[in-house]
Amino acid sequence: MKYLFLFLPFFLVGCFPQSQERWYEKERISKGKTLYNQYCISCHNKNAAGTKDWKKTDKDGFLPPPPLNGTAHTWHHDADLLFKIMDEGGALYNGKMPPFKDVLTKEDKLNILAYIQNFWKNETYEIWIEEIQKGREVK
Ligand code: HEC
Repeated sequence: MKYLFLFLPFFLVGCFPQSQERWYEKERISKGKTLYNQYCISCHNKNAAGTKDWKKTDKDGFLPPPPLNGTAHTWHHDADLLFKIMDEGGALYNGKMPPFKDVLTKEDKLNILAYIQNFWKNETYEIWIEEIQKGREVK
C-alpha cells in the first residue's frame, strides 16, 4: 500500500504535462499588444486573427493579411525571418504589406513577436521552437 503513495506524485505529474516555457517574459506581451494595436491591427485584425480566407488572392492577385495567431503559416518562419518581414513588408515577396524598418525598434519587434506568439497553441509553439527556430535564442 505504501508504494502507491510513493508513485502517486509521478502519476499526477504525468497527467498534467508542463507546458513549454516561452522565450519571452509576460511584460513583452502587453507592450507588444500596444504596438500591434497601433501598427498592425488595421490589416491583421483584432487578436492577430487576420483574414478568414487568407489563401484567396484578391482580384489583383494579392494575398490578404493572414492570421498571425498560429492558425496560418506564420509559425513556419524563424524569428529572424519574422523580423525581416516586419522590416521590409511585402517588398520581400511582391506583397502589399508596408515596411516598418524606420518605425519599429528591435525591442518593439521582439515585443510584437511575443504578443502574436501568445496566441499560438503550445503544440504549435513547441514545433516552432524546436523545428523552425531550432533552439536558437530569439534576439
Ligand atoms: C496595410 C496592411 C498591413 C499592415 C498595416 C501590416 N501588414 Fe503584415 N501583411 C499584410 C499582407 C497583405 C500580408 C501578406 C503578404 C503581403 O501581401 O505582403 C502580410 C504578411 C505578414 C506576415 C507574414 C505572414 C506569413 O504567414 O508568412 C507577417 C509576419 C506580418 N504581416 C506581420 C505584420 C506585423 C507585425 C505588422 C505590424 C507591425 C503588420 N504585419 C502590418 C498587410 C499588412
